[in-house]
Amino acid sequence: YLLGVDLGTSGTKTVLFDFGGNAICSKTIEYPMYQPANGWAEQDPSDWWNATCDGIKYVITKSGIDSSEIAGVGLSGQMHGLVMLDKNGMSLRNSIIWCDQRTANECQQMNNIVGEKRLIEITANPALTGFTASKILWIQNNEPEIYEKCAHILLPKDYLRYMLTGEFATDVSDASGMQLMDIPKRCWSDEILSKFNIDKSLLGKIYESPEVTGKIHRRAAELTGLCEGTIVVGGAADNSAAAIGTGVVRAGNAFTTIGTSGVVYAISDDVSIDIKGRVHTLCSAVPGKWTLMSCTLGAGLSLKWLRDTCCSEEMIEAEKLGVDPYVVMDRFAEQVMPGAGGLVYLPYLMGERSPHPDPYCRGVFFGLSATHNRANMIRAVMEGVAFSQRECVDVFKEMKVNVDDMIACGGGGRSPVWRQMLSDMYGCSVSTIKADEGPALGVAILAGVGAGIYDSVEAACDNIVSKKSIHHPNPSTRKVYEDYYELYKKLYIDLQGSYR
Ligand code: XUL
Repeated sequence: YLLGVDLGTSGTKTVLFDFGGNAICSKTIEYPMYQPANGWAEQDPSDWWNATCDGIKYVITKSGIDSSEIAGVGLSGQMHGLVMLDKNGMSLRNSIIWCDQRTANECQQMNNIVGEKRLIEITANPALTGFTASKILWIQNNEPEIYEKCAHILLPKDYLRYMLTGEFATDVSDASGMQLMDIPKRCWSDEILSKFNIDKSLLGKIYESPEVTGKIHRRAAELTGLCEGTIVVGGAADNSAAAIGTGVVRAGNAFTTIGTSGVVYAISDDVSIDIKGRVHTLCSAVPGKWTLMSCTLGAGLSLKWLRDTCCSEEMIEAEKLGVDPYVVMDRFAEQVMPGAGGLVYLPYLMGERSPHPDPYCRGVFFGLSATHNRANMIRAVMEGVAFSQRECVDVFKEMKVNVDDMIACGGGGRSPVWRQMLSDMYGCSVSTIKADEGPALGVAILAGVGAGIYDSVEAACDNIVSKKSIHHPNPSTRKVYEDYYELYKKLYIDLQGSYR
């Protein structure tokens, strides 16, 4: 067996797989996200750790397997979050997570110190509020007493690795999102670290994703039910892990996902960098490959917000009947024609990252009239998120990274309405895969490579991952969307600078 742990924003999902990639048992445990101020977002690392221990214990007990049969563990996690530990390995404060937008001044500072062009040349990305470097500078500037005590800087899933194995380490795909690496060379950048006054000893060792980074120690074995000595591989950032779990492992392969954020992710054999900084370039979890990736910050978050604020009665009713609230929302969306009756939504609830790195913009409903109802709003939100992803795919194409077929995954990928929408907007087929276990499967595959069960990531995916339903673009809907898409793009430009 192989174990995959995916530390998400809404909860941690732990899945036990057999070597054929079949999920034997799965457990998701949720925890809160704190928003101490508008645009801020934090989580408590001890919530992640407790959810991991309980999740692992649950799948081992429930499946009734002997934990000595688990050949390896893979870790996946939300990217960019800043975890700071003192010299005794104790967490110094809540983690500032990926969607936190407090660091606009620090981004300016980064550009002033390194120079915008040089920063992109080395880290392959412009200064971003979402990435870890600006969060570290924010602590240096605002909580110097914490920075002074800080002995270890870790990403969320690498905190779990420390708790499980005692090792301070990370993997190339996740470390790429810290903005401290030389992306073309796949190592920490001495130039960037010295300019930001970050001592290299604070950071863990970088491994390729399938490499073994350590073994489960005795205390972690007691808390989780795993066997002492079980290997833990590098693992991957959640999006890079999802890529492997959906078979997106070769140049030309791409996926689109809608979780809390919405990501489009494509593989390339070479480093290709957008000098305008609209999309990210990262090291892939497949050794020797790179990735183009976009991130719409308020994707699933927009639908969840709408569910909680405007649809609560229906949703409570649905839940009582055992129906998934998002299935109910799909039914509402289907009642409305493409274009949502002229209602356009901009999904900038937490500011935006791709293709507009902008911490200040906020969500917009444009064109609201008395004829519109809840169904129009639901459809408009789904379309707004899809427009945002389409805008990012256009940037990929400009960079000559082609997307002819897309895999849809994540929570949003389960909605046939959204998948058809994406196909109509991208103008290409959108498929799903048979067992959508996403990032957890991706890192279980990496653990299998590390444990010597599979020859390579690509070979494992060829055997394990297969496609299911395929949506093709509908030419007449496509034409309607093209018109609204022009309006959608214009709205961002027109409203820029109007946000308070
Ligand atoms: C990607 C990003 C998000 C998080 C969410 O850059 O910030 O997709 O990884 O889990």
